[in-house]
Amino acid sequence: MDFYYEDRKPILTDFSLQVAPGETIALVGPTGGGKTTIVNLLCRFYEPKNGHIRINGYDYTDYTLQSLQSRVGIVLQTPHLFSGTIRENIRYGRLDASDSQVEEAARVAGAHEFITSFEKSYDQDVGEGGNLLSLDRSNWSAWHVPF
Ligand SMILES: Nc1ncnc2c1ncn2[C@@H]1O[C@H](COP(=O)(O)OP(=O)(O)O)[C@@H](O)[C@H]1O
Ligand SMILES: [Mg+2]
Repeated sequence: MDFYYEDRKPILTDFSLQVAPGETIALVGPTGGGKTTIVNLLCRFYEPKNGHIRINGYDYTDYTLQSLQSRVGIVLQTPHLFSGTIRENIRYGRLDASDSQVEEAARVAGAHEFITSFEKSYDQDVGEGGNLLSLDRSNWSAWHVPF
């Protein structure tokens, strides 16, 4: 498979990858190496310029976008925090979660200690994008609360 963006600078040339059903793989490589591009292609945000992507042997353009994209989940590297409290932000993952379920989710994510270190604990206001929290924003990427 070959791929370039609109500027026609080759990004993937003669690229080939086979993933078996149930197999878990990681794409590892330098910045600019093409990892995100491969994910963009798999999600069909872009399509190969030459060659094919096949799923269960069928060209993936034979499936509807809905069928393909409803089976793909993406966790962004930079999670978004809404204005409101930590509790409200966690509960956003499941609106009917009780306080103890919110706390349990935070414990599983390894965030409980860190949250309770705030003066108001789970009721601490985070501010839009977390801007009321005086901490290294990169800490938040550890926060994939498992609802
Ligand atoms: N939308 C785009 N338009 C043009 N070039 C792009 C675009 N996105 C990424 N690229 C280029 O494609 C190459 C691979 O980038 P990318 O897939 O983001 O790599 P990685 O995720 O491994 O860091 C880089 O040279 C990057 O500059
Ligand atoms: Mg990337």
